[in-house]
Amino acid sequence: MELYLHIPFCKKKCLYCDFNSYANCSNELISGYLTALNREIKLAGDKFQNTELTSIFIGGGTPSLLEKSDLESVVKTVKNCFGLTQNYEFTIEANPESLSGDKLAFYRSLGINRLSIGIQSLFDDNLKAIGRIHDADTALNKLKLARKYFDNLSCDLMIGLPYDTKLRVKDEVYMLSSLVDHMSVYQLILEENTPLEAKVREGLVALPNDDNTIELFNAALQVLREVGFDRYEVSNFSRNGKFCRHNFGYWMRDEYIGIGAGAASFITRDNPYGGQVRLSSFNSIENYIESVMSSDDYYFIERESAQDLEESEIIDEEIMLGLRTSYGVKKSLIGEEVIKKYAKYFISEDDRVHLTDEGMAIMNTILVDAMSFNY
Ligand SMILES: C[S@@+](CC[C@H](N)C(=O)[O-])C[C@H]1O[C@@H](n2cnc3c(N)ncnc32)[C@H](O)[C@@H]1O
Ligand code: SF4
Repeated sequence: MELYLHIPFCKKKCLYCDFNSYANCSNELISGYLTALNREIKLAGDKFQNTELTSIFIGGGTPSLLEKSDLESVVKTVKNCFGLTQNYEFTIEANPESLSGDKLAFYRSLGINRLSIGIQSLFDDNLKAIGRIHDADTALNKLKLARKYFDNLSCDLMIGLPYDTKLRVKDEVYMLSSLVDHMSVYQLILEENTPLEAKVREGLVALPNDDNTIELFNAALQVLREVGFDRYEVSNFSRNGKFCRHNFGYWMRDEYIGIGAGAASFITRDNPYGGQVRLSSFNSIENYIESVMSSDDYYFIERESAQDLEESEIIDEEIMLGLRTSYGVKKSLIGEEVIKKYAKYFISEDDRVHLTDEGMAIMNTILVDAMSFNY
């Protein structure tokens, strides 16, 4: 089983972000949240007794904002409540400006063995335009510092930012690839009701159009291939087999519990909701605290949503998630006809197929046919 812990606090909300994260939270709210988080971990531990975790992922928000003592108490609770497999993966997400040598050493002392830093761009005009609070120099310095502590280091990069050019993207990917083992490369999604969307609508910020963004992404892809990174998922690349085992578990539909506001869980063992269920907690920090503090059983915690998957939904998920990865799907799941129709986009290995880069670029079209095969 995998464990995700959500830390929904940020120093400042980035202009493009609609993740469940909040800036300017009071110390009181943060402390109440951590109490609830520890309690939810204990309730889950009671329910899933004798369960070994294969991976832990502390994500956000900005987990690197946490005080050392707060992080320590959360990690202690996890270790008291769950076993860990021998070669467990333990990741924490960090933002450059809140990292220090002291924190990095502390993370290692807690057993954290993988670090993921949100770089987003190595150009100050881009960083400013999207509301990040770090600059490119800080990003590079913190990556170099983190390298001294972590031999499993990842960064996030965004493509399709206001001042991106192909040459710039190639330069930044090249530079970053020399510092990390893993890179997540996301095309910017202009989310509704974000300040960035308003700025673009009002003509205050111009973004590359869709065709240009695809070209920018392909430029990144070209460099990543050249420097020996494998694409193991649509947006994820790694070298020397250092893929993110935790996230790979999501695409393989492994069981996981998500603890914290807005966190999602996927439970496949015996449970009161049904068979394979997807649960998610309240997004609102206050509602989350209230729901956890008023329950004394993991399954009594009130949820924002709880879905017991039907057989057809399970198959759709297997196809949708599997085709995102280099492991792909079983041929029998999508049928010979679809494989023939999109033959040039598939790579076949034994009884499985996965998509080429060109196939991943038109994945949504292929999915429509692949998913309707089972109906
Ligand atoms: C939820 S964030 C958490 C990590 C950390 N707080 C940070 O921002 O560096 C995870 C990643 O999602 C990506 N992301 C967030 N909003 C996005 C958007 N609107 N479009 C594309 N990628 C986005 C960013 O690359 C970010 O690093
Ligand atoms: S730091 Fe990360 S989670 Fe926080 S607002 Fe920015 S992108 Fe969102």
